[in-house]
Amino acid sequence: MSVTNTNKVVRKAIFPVAGLGSRFLPATKASPKEMMPVVDKPLIQYAVEEAVAAGVTEMIFVTGRAKRAIADHFDKAYELEHQLEKSGKKELLKIAQSVVPKGVSCTYIRQTEALGLGHAVLTAAHLIGDEPFAVVLADDLIYGGDSALKQMVEQHSFYSSSVIAVQQVLGAAISAYGVISGNKQGERLYLLDGIVEKPKLEDAPSDMGVTGRYIFTPQIFDHLRALKPGAGGEYQLTDAIHALLLAEQVMAYEFKGTRYDCGSKMGLLRANIELALVHPEIGEDVRHYLKNDLNGLL
Ligand code: G1P
Repeated sequence: MSVTNTNKVVRKAIFPVAGLGSRFLPATKASPKEMMPVVDKPLIQYAVEEAVAAGVTEMIFVTGRAKRAIADHFDKAYELEHQLEKSGKKELLKIAQSVVPKGVSCTYIRQTEALGLGHAVLTAAHLIGDEPFAVVLADDLIYGGDSALKQMVEQHSFYSSSVIAVQQVLGAAISAYGVISGNKQGERLYLLDGIVEKPKLEDAPSDMGVTGRYIFTPQIFDHLRALKPGAGGEYQLTDAIHALLLAEQVMAYEFKGTRYDCGSKMGLLRANIELALVHPEIGEDVRHYLKNDLNGLL
């Protein structure tokens, strides 16, 4: 087993956003699930902000049909800015202008067939080249403390190996995740020796589920190219990670922060309630509402 030693910084992140979002129909019939808001920001913006905080400057979106709103969101909105400027709404103007910070670029590429997460990541291979990169799934909103991706970039710069985000998942819910097995190396760190996509509870090798944050060495592309259809008939990123860990060191990292599964209605609702409670503009009102006004409805 060899330890890759690229020692390069993570400048690029892939955001796979081609999924149909069918769990949220009809909300997602004509607009992307990644544009669903948590309080006042779309999910994809939380993901991009986390990447920016980790030092990533090149955002690569792997998109599909009906996803134009994502590109529009990260584009300059001339008419809107003009209107806000004319009416003296300086604060709102600042918000509209700061969606993409200076020095950050966005690239969009179409995944023409929905063949799975592994296939989506491979679609962007030519935009990555020979350097480490991140993959961020916007469905998983991680809130609180340091950017989770930044924590992982720190681990990558120490170990120079791929780093997969994990968290403990209790009971049968584990079957909705990639699940790792490995040796604990430190308080939050595992050296992987196995990973399996969506196992039955009785077959799960541990209770540590993969969360949608990954940092990969470019060697992952060799294994993505060699993939055969896996769980659900899709080209699974998890299977490529399994092949990668047989060839080189791969770490898993238990990030600090609260993760909301915004791919589910309940997760999205929890994120909305909990982030509304800490929102500077409406936090106090929401707290009052939940404490005093809800009783009659429960
Ligand atoms: C994907 C991955 C899975 C991972 C999960 C995290 O699954 O395939 O390994 O645990 O994201 O959110 P999905 O939720 O897209 O089915």
